[in-house]
Amino acid sequence: MFRINDNFLQLAESYLFSEVARRIAAFKEENPAADVIRLGIGDVTIPLCQAAIEAMHTAVDDEANAATFRGYGPEQGYPFLREAIAEHDYRARGVEIAPDEIFVSDGAKSDTGNIGDILATSNRVAVTDPVYPVYVDTNVMAGRAGTPMPEGGFSRVIYLPVTAENGFVPELPEEKADIIYLCYPNNPTGTALTRSQLKKWVDYAAANGSLILYDSAYEAFIRQDDVPHSIYEIEGAKKVAIEFRSFSKTAGFTGVRCGYTVVPKELKGLDSEGREVGLNHLWNRRQCTKFNGASYISQRGATAIYTPEGQRQAREAVDYYMGNAAMMLAELRKAGFEVFGGENAPYVWLKTPAGTDSWAFFDLLLKECQVAGTPGSGFGPAGEGYFRLTAFNTRENTREALRRIVARFG
Ligand code: MLT
Repeated sequence: MFRINDNFLQLAESYLFSEVARRIAAFKEENPAADVIRLGIGDVTIPLCQAAIEAMHTAVDDEANAATFRGYGPEQGYPFLREAIAEHDYRARGVEIAPDEIFVSDGAKSDTGNIGDILATSNRVAVTDPVYPVYVDTNVMAGRAGTPMPEGGFSRVIYLPVTAENGFVPELPEEKADIIYLCYPNNPTGTALTRSQLKKWVDYAAANGSLILYDSAYEAFIRQDDVPHSIYEIEGAKKVAIEFRSFSKTAGFTGVRCGYTVVPKELKGLDSEGREVGLNHLWNRRQCTKFNGASYISQRGATAIYTPEGQRQAREAVDYYMGNAAMMLAELRKAGFEVFGGENAPYVWLKTPAGTDSWAFFDLLLKECQVAGTPGSGFGPAGEGYFRLTAFNTRENTREALRRIVARFG
């Protein structure tokens, strides 16, 4: 009989957010009257902005008319969107990225998961711990992660703890890392790296021949001037880094699906014979084979985010969520919690009360406050004893959730 990919058997039974959803559904089944407020998965609640809606309506009309109808688009994305990205997300910040270094996709989750296709399985991967679970799970699937360890984590993955003790700033690894995943502003801790803290990683990658996979899906939430929006703001980064971006959180596209990945032409890796090969070409080759492009309609919607009205409207939504985050930090501190993040990111990371592990706190909060969050240990061993809440719910729901938490713990 045929064989399956055994690597999948090494994965936890279910994906973190599926497990969270399963537990909430079970609780609702037992307590049908419960009004559960979801501050778990980072899903947005504000509808799409008017500029995107109008552009998408027009795009639907284009598809309804023989003269303007579009079938398969370019696998890399339409030039109108790639040019808008190059202009507004990069040139406006003093960074030169050519449109053909930008690959439009259906989101950063798929791209951060798929990028491993063009990288050898022998590479040693480093991740911060805790970390967005997609990075580790996809390396497990590819056979790059080794075997599960009794204390949690995988034997070939280099874990870089980010905890209150080190101010959530990862230390450079002692063992040589070939591929380093960095997500800043960070999911799940909601913390950020300054320009000088990120520069250390770019310098490390340049000195060690490493590749940085930089997920900046939350860059729109940055408030501090010394926090870079793109890794390419750091000199030398184009030779060592791929950057992933998403319209999901910045423009409410979690349901529409659109994101992009930047693979600079200067970025090169070695083949098994020691010859240098450009990654831009490899990723293009991979995408042309496995991907038929994001939909025309979603790309028109994403392009509208770069018009003056689109920028203003998207900004309003981001500001609204950051207003939630500020309220969460203040109220949780009032209730006696030690809280982190939430200043340059839509996530608040808190320490669970002494003696309560992350999943026990999840159950307690769900049962006693009817508030759902995400247990820190789901993001990695060093996340144990922490808990994540998102700022993406409505102001009313966020306020009500905090009222319940303060009443219970304050
Ligand atoms: C999260 O809650 O961590 C994110 O929403 C997940 C994602 O973006 O895939």
